[in-house]
Amino acid sequence: MNAEELKRQAAEAALEYLPDGGVLGIGTGSTVNHFIDLLADVKGRYEGAVSSSEASTERLKKIGIPVLDLNAVGDLEIYVDGADESNRYLHLIKGGGGALTREKIIAAASKKFVCIADESKLVDVLGKFPLPIEVIPMARSYVARQLVKLGGTPVWREGFVTDNGNIILDVHNLEITEPVKLETELNQIAGVVTVGIFGHRPADVLILGTPEGPRTIIP
Ligand code: 5RP
Repeated sequence: MNAEELKRQAAEAALEYLPDGGVLGIGTGSTVNHFIDLLADVKGRYEGAVSSSEASTERLKKIGIPVLDLNAVGDLEIYVDGADESNRYLHLIKGGGGALTREKIIAAASKKFVCIADESKLVDVLGKFPLPIEVIPMARSYVARQLVKLGGTPVWREGFVTDNGNIILDVHNLEITEPVKLETELNQIAGVVTVGIFGHRPADVLILGTPEGPRTIIP
C-alpha cells in the first residue's frame, strides 16, 4: 500500500468517532483532505465545520459543508487533524503545512482530538521532522538567534506566509525528549506566535494507517 492509501485508511477509520450532529473541527493537510472527501457522504448530519486553514475551508465549501466561525459555535465535540510526527503519548509535531496556529486553537477548543496519519509518523522521540514555529515577521532574526542558543538550527521558510500573515521558522536538529517543557520554553520567546509542539494539548486518539489495517493508539 502506498502512503496515500494508508492516509485514506486512517481517514476512513476516523469516521467512527464522528458525533451524530453538531459542528466538526477540521484540520489541514493531505490526510485531512481524504477525511474531508469522505465527509461528503455524511454532511447532511452536521451544521457545518470550523476549519484550520483557507485550504481546508475551500475544500469543505466545495463539497457543500458550511464553514463556521469558532467564535459563534463554542467548544466542539471533535477535532480531526493530521500530524507530522507523534510519539506514543500522542504529543505531536504539527505545522508542516503552516496551519499550526489555527490548528492549536481548534484543538484547544475541542473535547476530543482524533489524529490521523500513516504509520511513518509514529516516532520514539520527536524532532527528526523540523519543528515549525510561527513568528511575527519583524521578530524573525531575534527568534532565530534564541533558537540557536537552545541548540536548534532554524531555517526560514522563505516565500511562505501563514494565513495569519506571519512567517515560519523550521527548526532542525532538535531532539525533543520533553515536549511539554520545550513547548513552554519556546512560547516564552518574544515574537513567537505558535510552536508546532502539541504537548500541552496532545491528541486523544491516534489512528495510523498500516498495511495490516488501521492501528489505534489511545494512551
Ligand atoms: C498542517 C499540519 C498537518 O497536519 C501536517 O503537516 C500533516 O500533513 P499531512 O497529512 O499532509 O502529512 O500540521 O499545518
